[in-house]
Parts: sequence; structure tokens; C-alpha cells
Amino acid sequence: MIEKLVRRDIETLRFKLPYVDEKLINLSQNEPIRGIIGDKYSSRYIGPFYYELKDKIARKHGLRRENLVITAGANHGIDICCRCFLERGDSCAIYEPTYGQYYMIARVNGNEILKFQLNERFEPDWDLFKKSAAKLLFLSNPNNPTGNLVGLDKIEEGLKTGKVIVVDEAYAEFTDFTAIELVESYENLVVLRTFSKVWSLPGARVGYTVANEKTSDYLELSHIPYHMSNMAVKLAYDVLDHEEDMWKLVEETKELREEMRDGLSDLGLYAYPSYTNFVLVEFPEQVSAYDVFNALIEKGIFVYNVSGQNGIENCLRISVGARENNLYLLKSLGEVLADWGTRFNTVIR
Ligand SMILES: Cc1ncc(COP(=O)(O)O)c(C=O)c1O
Repeated sequence: MIEKLVRRDIETLRFKLPYVDEKLINLSQNEPIRGIIGDKYSSRYIGPFYYELKDKIARKHGLRRENLVITAGANHGIDICCRCFLERGDSCAIYEPTYGQYYMIARVNGNEILKFQLNERFEPDWDLFKKSAAKLLFLSNPNNPTGNLVGLDKIEEGLKTGKVIVVDEAYAEFTDFTAIELVESYENLVVLRTFSKVWSLPGARVGYTVANEKTSDYLELSHIPYHMSNMAVKLAYDVLDHEEDMWKLVEETKELREEMRDGLSDLGLYAYPSYTNFVLVEFPEQVSAYDVFNALIEKGIFVYNVSGQNGIENCLRISVGARENNLYLLKSLGEVLADWGTRFNTVIR
């Protein structure tokens, strides 16, 4: 079935690289004769399939290396999905409000984006996607910037459209939920994961796609050869040995997130429940989120202004930071609201 969903010329991209036994003297890759400042990781080509990292990730998820493609962050996973499934000019879909880079990355690839609206519970209505010309859907779950999560049953409903569903699980470790368990049953499912959030390596730019083996085989054809930096791959490989620390970080972040939601609520603001490391906060009608955003910059704090987006018109997205930064944010926000004489004594809703 997946053959019918991939780009027409994808098979022609199958590049055959000889396996080089490490015992052989390798004079096939025009590598430097020695490193100047580097070690074996930087002065040699390693890859292009990054099996060691794949095997370690695969063990973690109870999968096989054939289910995985290593990517330069989840953003690169989005890019690979466009290249794998969409011809130039083809459409993909998003339900707004959602992560802004789906639009950017699809456009860079020459694809159109069809925009549908999430309902008031921030859940998608699959009919709109099903009836549309879109061949693929990007679904952030948990969703950025709303912070909510849709269930596996909802995702399965989407998969039954027969179109490609890309579930972006950048924040999955903040939940007990993953669509990975569906990849054996649905060839049209791709799950995106990243080392940028709970694994704390956004600067390394490492992520991976999880899909059925047949689908992964096509995804692997959809990026340039040797696309990963060896040092980044090594960092991701090493950090996986620190799973306990990762879960500690998740728990600490969740605690700080709830402290922030409580603090916002004490200021009379509504902070949406969140399954992520950020909080979406809504301002009452008489306060402009856009003005608050600017006032916070004056106080030296930069949050994310989502206030122009349908469904979250008067909201800001605030990342959970270190406690002292969160406290400073709350104090500053309190001052901004007080300055305007708009201090509320009750939660808005
Ligand atoms: C939903 C979502 N997907 C993907 C990304 C990008 O992640 P990466 O750093 O792995 O490219 C982000 C980053 O904020 C995100 O919020």
C-alpha cells in the first residue's frame, strides 16, 4: 500500500554503497590522511545509516533498526516526509493552531499547505482532511502551541483515511502516550521524535523517524547521503545511557510547569493544561496579549507571541524555564498587569 503513496521517482534514488569491513584499509572515500584536531569521529566518514545509534534507539522502543531513520532533528523528519511522499505542487495539511515550521518546510519543498481549524477542544475533524486534496497530514501530538494531546483512537481514525499521517511527538516523554505502537499496523504512519527536548540536545540536531519497515525504507531514500554529523550522532548515542537523568528532567520540568500555571492563575490568567514544556496562557479581552508580549520584552523577557492565530487570538506561549526565570516572568507579568490596572482576583474561566 505504501508504494502507492510515495513519490513516483523515489525508487530511482536507491543509492548502493559498498559495505566496508573495518579490518580493510579503506582508500575508497577520499578521507584526509589523518585528523588535525579531530578524533576518529570527525576525521572519518561514518554512516550513512548510523546503525549503532539506531540499534540503541530500537532497543528502547522494542523495535528494529529497520523501523528507524536518523534525522537532523524533528524538523529534518518533516522535510524528509515532504520529499518522500509529495511531488512538487502536491498539498499537505495541517490543523491550526499548530507548529509553524510545517508550513515553512513544506513551502521550501515546493508543496502547498491546506489549513484546517482544530475544534474548541483543539482536536482535528478528519472529514475536512479526508475530503481534501492533501496527501499527507502533519499532526503535532502533544500539539505546539496548545499543549494538548489527542488519543490513539483519534489517530487511528485519521490513519483510516489511507493518507499519510505524520505524528510529531517532539514532546512525547511528557505524556504516557505514543503512536509508535501503531507503526506495525499502519504503513501510512510516520512518527517523529527528537533529542532536542527531554534529551536536552537541541544544539546537536538529532532526531529520528519511526515507521513500518517498508515505509522507513522509502524515508531513508529521501535525504542526502551522509546527512548527519558524526559528533551529533555520538552525542545522541551517549545521552541514551542517561535515561534516569532524562526522566528526572521530565519530572522537574513538569513540576515547574505546574508552578507556572498556578502562578499565572494567581494573576487571574487562564493557563491551558499542558503535556509539554510550555504553557499557553490566555489574556482577558481587556488586555492585549500583543501588548503584554512587548511589555515583557521591555522587562528583558522574550516569550512566543501566538496571538495572531485563529483559536488562540489573545494568547502567549511561555516555555518553562529554570525556576528563577519563571519567578521573574511571573513577577514581571504581575507588574505589567498592575500597571494597566487590570489585576484580576478570579480565574478568568
Ligand atoms: C512540535 C515540534 N516539532 C518539531 C520541533 C523541532 O524539533 P527539532 O529541534 O528536533 O528540529 C519542535 C521544536 O520546538 C516542535 O515544537
